[in-house]
Amino acid sequence: MKMLLITAFPRNNGFTRYCNDLFIRGVKQTGITFTMIDIVLANINPCRGCFHCWCSTPGRCIQHDGMERILDAFLDCDLLACATPLYAYGVSSYLKIFLERTMPLLTPGVTSTATSGVDRNKIRFPDRGPRSMAALITGGLGARSHADGAVTSLRCYAKGMNMTFAGALVRNESYLLQFTDTKPKTIKTIETAFEQAGRMFALEGTIDRELIEKVATPLAFDHARFELYSNIYWEHAQKVFSRGGSVDEIKSLTRGDIRILMQEMVHGIDPVTTAKVKAVIQLIFPDTASAYCISMEKGTARLEMVEKESFDLKITCPEAVWVGIIHRTTDPLKALTKGCIRLEGDKELFRKFGRFFPPPNI
Ligand SMILES: Cc1cc2nc3c(=O)[nH]c(=O)nc-3n(C[C@H](O)[C@H](O)[C@H](O)COP(=O)(O)O)c2cc1C
Repeated sequence: MKMLLITAFPRNNGFTRYCNDLFIRGVKQTGITFTMIDIVLANINPCRGCFHCWCSTPGRCIQHDGMERILDAFLDCDLLACATPLYAYGVSSYLKIFLERTMPLLTPGVTSTATSGVDRNKIRFPDRGPRSMAALITGGLGARSHADGAVTSLRCYAKGMNMTFAGALVRNESYLLQFTDTKPKTIKTIETAFEQAGRMFALEGTIDRELIEKVATPLAFDHARFELYSNIYWEHAQKVFSRGGSVDEIKSLTRGDIRILMQEMVHGIDPVTTAKVKAVIQLIFPDTASAYCISMEKGTARLEMVEKESFDLKITCPEAVWVGIIHRTTDPLKALTKGCIRLEGDKELFRKFGRFFPPPNI
């Protein structure tokens, strides 16, 4: 059994790479013979649509570029996987060029299958090439349906090349994949599903529907949160890129952004411990001139970015101290003793804060 993996993402440290690495980890566990070709670096030109590969030089393209060796690898494999970012609701142009350039593997003439009635061109080498195809698609926006066009075209391509379509691992909300601290369990579920899908595809040429669903597990609680987190990511990206910084820097700034951490913390309220608590907790970070107000009632909490006149507890500290507390790297009581935190009002609420808002369990 041999697998060919075509990677078609130009950003080498992006989220498609992250998903692809997880899939590969699963593939490698099986010991299958596995070749990966980075199509972005393969130096292939777009198809010219001249049909010489069907008529005057059958089976060969008149363009002599990187595609010649890739077609050999294609014919030599049993399984094909393609990893692409979602671009303009479709696959990346790199992957599209690759798909089009497999034209020499077809011949003139149409055939239809008795079972599905699908029309396709005749296959030049019916006994060679992959019998099953899988895709990994990573999109930035919230709705998974944005990838529908890409999935449909890949499914049709698979049929056209007489392959089974094992399925598409669509991971939308790509920017939220970096929230490993605030959503450890969900991220672990997604990572494991990618790995299992890689292993299953390598062993069986199929991917369970359940794994496809797990890979796409929603990361934002709601649309408002998705919008806020994406906008924060791009706010950091604009600053970091304009001073020549790296993608890793953007990811780390986004992960440590107090606005996101506060949202996640408040959403993670323990409804049992707080069932009978009615309180307004005001947080003030003088160093960044920002204020957050948490209104707790009947096991729920609401977060506003305001400073209110009346409160039950007011916590004042540098923003970094609070980030440390949320990340569990700073002990709140020690920070209080050291004088890094100032309290006004009901100090008992501060003592119980860790129980009201426990470490993330999602
Ligand atoms: C040219 C371009 C077009 C894009 N179009 C879409 C799109 O249609 N839908 C979507 O959800 N994301 C879209 N995105 C966002 C990317 O899918 C997202 O940034 C993804 O994480 C890219 O993969 P990468 O992180 O590996 O670079 C687009 C990005 C670019 C650069």
